[in-house]
Amino acid sequence: MGKYIIKGGKKLEGEVRISGSKNAALPILAATILNSSKSTLYNLPDIHDTQMMLEILKLLGAKAEKKKNKVIIDTSKISKYEIPESLMRQMRSSVILAGSLIGKYKTATFSYPGGCDIGSRPIDLHLKGFEKLGIAIQKEYGNINCVADKIIGEKIDLDFPSVGATENIILASVLAEGQTIINNAAREPEIIDLQNFLNKMGAKIKGAGSNQIIVQGVKTLKEVSYNIMPDRIEAGTFLCAAAITGGNIKLNEVNSEHITPVISKLEEANCKIKIEKNSVEINAQKKLKSLEIKTMPYPGFPTDLQSLFVSTLTVAKGTSLMVENIFENRYKYIPELVRMGAKIMVEGKSAVIKGVRKLYGANVKATDLRGGAALVLAGLAAKGVTNVENIEYILRGYENFDIKLQKLGANILLE
Ligand code: UD1
Repeated sequence: MGKYIIKGGKKLEGEVRISGSKNAALPILAATILNSSKSTLYNLPDIHDTQMMLEILKLLGAKAEKKKNKVIIDTSKISKYEIPESLMRQMRSSVILAGSLIGKYKTATFSYPGGCDIGSRPIDLHLKGFEKLGIAIQKEYGNINCVADKIIGEKIDLDFPSVGATENIILASVLAEGQTIINNAAREPEIIDLQNFLNKMGAKIKGAGSNQIIVQGVKTLKEVSYNIMPDRIEAGTFLCAAAITGGNIKLNEVNSEHITPVISKLEEANCKIKIEKNSVEINAQKKLKSLEIKTMPYPGFPTDLQSLFVSTLTVAKGTSLMVENIFENRYKYIPELVRMGAKIMVEGKSAVIKGVRKLYGANVKATDLRGGAALVLAGLAAKGVTNVENIEYILRGYENFDIKLQKLGANILLE
């Protein structure tokens, strides 16, 4: 298990390029199964989660050639339709392969993903959607077996706008007979990216980005090349890194429209933001002010930035309130922040953050991807040295995190 050693106190300055989106890349990688042909992806973030997804695709019979952020995937020889339990356990989001496998081969077997570090994360909405499409689901010995003679388009009303369920249902219905309508669909930009990728491949999908998505089934799909959208959560992370250190940085290759609620919260906290085409600049030289935030499905404030904002608000003037409405167990990192001198009280969904003048370096452990990144940010602002252990969590989702921070002047080393 590696660690980051951070000597805090440097204000971040300079420019940083935002990588391709992890949460767009994962379903798009899964979607390559559908065309049984070649897919060329650009701007693929080189992170542990995408490497793992490529490994699973290879295990199923695909070929993948990767060079930096470009990958060519050939899915013409897929011959296995089962995702091994060990890999399913390592990466919960591999459940997204089920929609493509069932959509293309009418069969998929995977194990129940179980809980994870941020909550119980059931997949009932994915399975209910599959059943509506005529897919039979059998559960035995922790395995889920999906089979269908035919997949026939249907109207599916989601009880909650789940991102994964929306994506899985789209993937299962691209090659179905007739029309599938998903009501109360998740509206995240990553779903628009998946729609754009699939349509470029020959699918007929419309409505992504709204709460109703219509998939008109097609018979065949073709070779495709596609550029993955920028990572809005990485962008928010760097904005927070500038805010907590009182810095001044410019993010390049970012879509500012995807982070509207994040930008308005940072402005409310006393940061100056300048938006230009494909770039966002933040000047956080004034003392931060406290905020009240609640996480919501898109276009609300993203749960994936909850920990980053809590970390930033530990040094704001006054008392802040965070309400986490999406995942029930997403405050595990807070005891680690408290070790660094933060004053935070958690009660159910709410965290009350009393701003302190300084954080102090300490030995802390990452508990999950975004919680781990929040500890790195705290370390950047703290007096003294912070060791962040268990950084495997962070490497799952941030490309060259330490190197990008070093370029902005941070004193951070990977050991
Ligand atoms: C995706 C993102 C994750 C982000 C989340 C919410 C990926 C790879 N991950 O996760 O980074 O934090 O969206 O924006 O894109 N739920 C159910 N039943 C289901 C499915 C979900 O009850 O069948 C619940 C979950 O437990 C959770 C909530 O719905 O409380 C949101 O989950 P969902 O939108 O599905 O998130 P993911 O797709 O897992």
